[in-house]
This record gives sequence, C-alpha cells and structure tokens, in this order.
Amino acid sequence: MSQGEDLVLDFNNMMADVVGPQHGITAEELEAVAAETPTHVGDLAERRAAGELEWMDLPYNHDVVQEVRQTADQLRDRFENLVVLGIGGSALGLIALQRALNPLEYNLLPRERRGGPRLFVCDNIDPDAFDRVLRETDQQETLYNVVTKSGTTAETLAQLLVVWDRLQGRLGAGAREHIIATTSAGRGLLRRFATEKGLRSFVIPEGAVGRFSVLSPVGLLGSALCGIDIQGLLAGAARADERTRSDDLFENPAMAGAAIQYLADTKKGKHIAVMMPYAAALDMVSDWFRQLWAESLGKRFNVRGETVHVGQTPVKALGVTDQHSQVQLYTEGPNDKTFTFIAVRSFERDVPLPPAERVPEGMVYLGGRSIGELFEAERQATQMALTDARRPNATITLPAVDPFQIGQLLYTLEVQTALAGTLYNVNPFDQPGVERGKLLTRALMGDGSLAGLIDEIAQRPRPNPHYIV
Ligand code: PA5
Repeated sequence: MSQGEDLVLDFNNMMADVVGPQHGITAEELEAVAAETPTHVGDLAERRAAGELEWMDLPYNHDVVQEVRQTADQLRDRFENLVVLGIGGSALGLIALQRALNPLEYNLLPRERRGGPRLFVCDNIDPDAFDRVLRETDQQETLYNVVTKSGTTAETLAQLLVVWDRLQGRLGAGAREHIIATTSAGRGLLRRFATEKGLRSFVIPEGAVGRFSVLSPVGLLGSALCGIDIQGLLAGAARADERTRSDDLFENPAMAGAAIQYLADTKKGKHIAVMMPYAAALDMVSDWFRQLWAESLGKRFNVRGETVHVGQTPVKALGVTDQHSQVQLYTEGPNDKTFTFIAVRSFERDVPLPPAERVPEGMVYLGGRSIGELFEAERQATQMALTDARRPNATITLPAVDPFQIGQLLYTLEVQTALAGTLYNVNPFDQPGVERGKLLTRALMGDGSLAGLIDEIAQRPRPNPHYIV
C-alpha cells in the first residue's frame, strides 16, 4: 500500500498564465482567496470543535470501527449476499468504495476469490430492478443493511417493508438475524423499527449528513463485509485531515481545490465542473463526488437568507472512454467548464503489447509498449488538447488506487466541498430542495399527516393538452 504518500493537486492549467485571463484565474484573484484562507479554515475548525461537524472526526472513531470489524468478521462467511437498501448519501459512498477497491467482476468471482458476500446496493426503487435483486438473492443466504440517516426516506422504508415481510414469512423469528439497521441514534422510523424488532444496528452521527457519511458505518460496514481494508481507508483520511487543516492555501489541497472551482465559477463563468478520472476503478468516485458537490453547494439562499442561486453543475466523465464521447464538446463547445482529471501514478497491473517485430506496419508505434503507457499518453494528450483550447483544468494524482489513497481522496474532497461552502457563503450541510421532493412523494402516496400538501397538489394547474403531442 502507498501509505504515507500524498495525493498531489496540480492546478497550473487553471491559471491565466496558461489558459489566458478570460478563462484562467489570475494570480491576484487566487492571492485574494489565499489571504482569506485562515478565516475559512478557521471557521470549519471552530464548528468542528463545537461538535457540529462529526464527519471530520470519523477517521478517529476507533470504537465504532472496532465494532464494524467485529460484526463483519462474524457475518462475512455466513452470508452469500449483502443487499444494501439506501439512497443518495446512504448508498453512493459504499458504491464508490466497492468499485474502487474490489474488482469490477467481484460479484461474479467464486466465493474463495471474493473478500466477502456478493454486494447489491439497491439505491433505486425501479420495481423491475428491485424485484430482480430480490429474486437473485435467496433470503436464507442474504444479509440486508438498511441505511437511512433521517429514518424517513420513503424509498428505503418501502424496501425495508418488502424485505421484512418476506423474511418473516420465510424465517419467522429468525428474520431479525438478517437485517442490520444503520441510522441516527435517537430519531426516525428506522431507529424505532430497529428497537422494536431487536435488530442489530449502527449509528450515523448527527453531524455526518448523508453525503459526508461515507467513513461512518454507512460506508464502512459494507466495505468491511466485502473484505476492504477499512483501517487503511481511515489512515488515508487521517492524513488528508492533517493536510487540510493548513491555513496556507498552497499547502492545503482542499482549500486550493475549493478556491480554483469557486473562482472559475464566479469570475470566469465556468458553471460546470467535470471530473474525469483516468482509472476505471474511480468511475463511481465521480458519481459520489457529483452528489457531494451538487447537493452541498447548489443553493437558493446564502447563510444570510439572501437569494443567490449558486452552485456549479458537476458532470462525470471517464478517461479514456469519454474521449470518444464528450471530449469533442469539451474542446470546442462552450467554454463554460472546469475539468478535474484524476491520474494514477502506478496501477496494480499492466498489459504488455507484443514486440515491434510482431506488429503490422502502421501499428509499429504500439509495439513493445504497454496498455498502461498508452492509457497515460491518452490522459496527457487530452489534458494538452484541452489546455491548448484554453479550457481550465487541474489534475489530482494518486500514487496508486488503494485504501489509503481512496481515504485520502474522499476526505480531501469532503473538506474541499465544505470550504467551498464557506467561499460561496452557503450552508453545505443542508438540502432543502431534496426535502421538498421527499414530502411531495409522501403526500402523493396519501400520507394523512400531510393533508395540507395533499390539497395543494390537488389544486395544481392541469397540463395544457396543446403541448402534449
Ligand atoms: O446527502 C444527503 O443528505 C442525502 O443525499 C441523503 O443521503 C438522501 O436523501 C437519503 O437520505 P436518508 O439517508 O435520510 O435516507
């Protein structure tokens, strides 16, 4: 493992020196934010010290980690399947970890070559998809981890009801051995359900809002069950914590990352932020980050209650795949985006190409090289092409894809998002826009406690048939 090695953020190509002052950040603009860095970092530190930001302390939650590991050790061999029921911040972190740190074909591997049970994360209630997972996973051999911080999310509760009902029908009193609840300590319907039914449970700390909860049992339990080294992950996060406490922007990758995106958005009109890892294993890290950046910073009001409508739109892309899908637009379309490449210095494996003498004419330049070398050349070429087209871009380089580096990356991006919140002057830890949708869903499903909202829905204007073709 690459323990001890730091990730590197290179943002030269975000700067006016490289892509010009119309699209790039000037040294003066950056220096102005650098001068404010002690205030932004200090603000976060104060709130952390006051106990509001428990997600920042998750790397040091040793008792909980111990309990997670013990539970995983007890249950790993007992179950053939782990089905996680949860959505948004209650699912994306685990999906990112599993994709990054276990092989893509994990579920297809024979038991002895897998670190644990097959993993299915049901973060959608598409009935077809959910039914397929239920059919594919024999309940007798399945452990369900129900994850909801609020304990009120209709999708997750509905999944729980289905699973519980079937488990009880099949296993009677044994049903409770098959469910673990991960939820808030003293509130929500899942906590009440877990207490009533005597389920095993884990706590999501109050100060770890869904999208900042990956290093709590939300992400750790499934990871540990599937054989991921969660201690390595937390060691990487702890290292990121050390680095991101610095009040010098040029020493703090989270502050630098927040500043360049904020300045590009607010001063250069780069309202879209593309994350493009050159590592298939990091594909779902982009998905996780997409939620983190969007839900934390996309806000109507600032902390003073003024209407601001801020937030970059995060977009995910994957190198090299999306070179042949998106890069035409990125290079020649509207110059309204920033690009964050994620490069990996050393992959676990490489695939050699045949020597030049066995390669047909015209392909000789590939002979004797390797797939890894081509991959790296493609990354550099895309970065150069975008830079030549004056598209601001930055690169995060990870020494490797391993638990330490993934912990470091995720924690750094979390702090970057929190610091961006202070730059935009919005609360990155709420999501009123999501809450409204949750309430409307419950009203549409006839929740009697929302009678006012049910009336409101009934009075909405009907669609104009003229616009329905
Ligand atoms: O980040 C968030 O807070 C949200 O994305 C939530 O994770 C998501 O809405 C699910 O909420 P809950 O965990 O309460 O079921």
